Amino acid sequence: AEKQGFRHFMLKEIHEQPRVISDTLTGRVRMEEADVDLDGLQLPVDTIARITILACGTSWHAGLAGKYMIEQLARIPVEVDLASEFRYRDPILGPGDLVVAVSQSGETLDTMEAIREAKKKGAQVLAISNVVESSIPRLADHAFYTHAGPEIGVASTKAFTTQLVAMTLFAIYLGRRTGTLARERARELLAELAQLPGKMRDVVESGAQLQVLARRYGHASGFLFLGRGAQYPIALEGALKLKEISYIHAEGYAAGEMKHGPIALIDEHLPVVVLAPRGPHYEKVVSNLAEVRARQGKVLAVATKGDADIGGHADDVILVPDSALELQPILTVLPLQLLSYYVADFKGTDIDQPRNLAKSVTVE
Ligand code: AGP
Repeated sequence: AEKQGFRHFMLKEIHEQPRVISDTLTGRVRMEEADVDLDGLQLPVDTIARITILACGTSWHAGLAGKYMIEQLARIPVEVDLASEFRYRDPILGPGDLVVAVSQSGETLDTMEAIREAKKKGAQVLAISNVVESSIPRLADHAFYTHAGPEIGVASTKAFTTQLVAMTLFAIYLGRRTGTLARERARELLAELAQLPGKMRDVVESGAQLQVLARRYGHASGFLFLGRGAQYPIALEGALKLKEISYIHAEGYAAGEMKHGPIALIDEHLPVVVLAPRGPHYEKVVSNLAEVRARQGKVLAVATKGDADIGGHADDVILVPDSALELQPILTVLPLQLLSYYVADFKGTDIDQPRNLAKSVTVE
């Protein structure tokens, strides 16, 4: 693996995302049938009463986003659990349960032990991994893969967005088999997926703006990231990216939770990154922005290109291309990856090998 002219593997991998999303889509879209083929996956979908997604860290955030997609498109109940919690809570599982293990490395011990527990309790296990024939897919009953290529930076970027695409493909696979996803809607989503790489390229090429914002806010001692719906997992992911490479404390929160505590944190020293794309939550998120600004908080809003109103509610605005609601998280996470990269660069931390962290956590 080479940096190919980039200063860090992480920046290179951020820029690889349009291509590896294409790679993850290649050979899987059946436009004629308005369906997908996931490496020949044959699941008894009509026997699935519940899906439990198990993962750690960034992969857990992908699982949380997957919950929204699967429940929206396939109407199958989804629980998402941290693997390190699941394995010790004597979970209640049976034959109607499908457990989905999400793991970039396929070697995370907590996730491995969690699916061992799930299999003991009679659940079927599907693995979604980035490393073919790694331990977790080998232990699972079924597997399909993201095609992000080797991810060298400890902070996961391209693996995460390919996991989000994998979750979307899986939700379409399920929805077409439960009958809750109509042919036309499936076709629309598949067409939108095909446009993603071009839209992602627009965003990752806008790094200069994020570099300016990183210098403006990089001295802060803490950040808050807010999102609603499927943008809530993206808020969590943005906070994790920032803390793991810049060592600045950051917290992701469901925006609706502000009034239940976090609003006490707001003052002129706290940058608040708010995910405010076009969609059903927009008005409510804008009211959250107003709450923050009324208390002198600094607001960095991630919004949809063409939004002429958001500027009046935020100190800084980062615009991403419009897309189907289900695909918005794949675009809104990109500015957060770039922001965390440039803040860490501004602080001079070891971006590719942050202190105390390993790329694959094979210990308990
Ligand atoms: C993400 O930036 C971290 N490197 C970490 O949270 C990672 O996502 C987690 O350890 C899970 O790893 P896995 O996907 O290989 O199982």
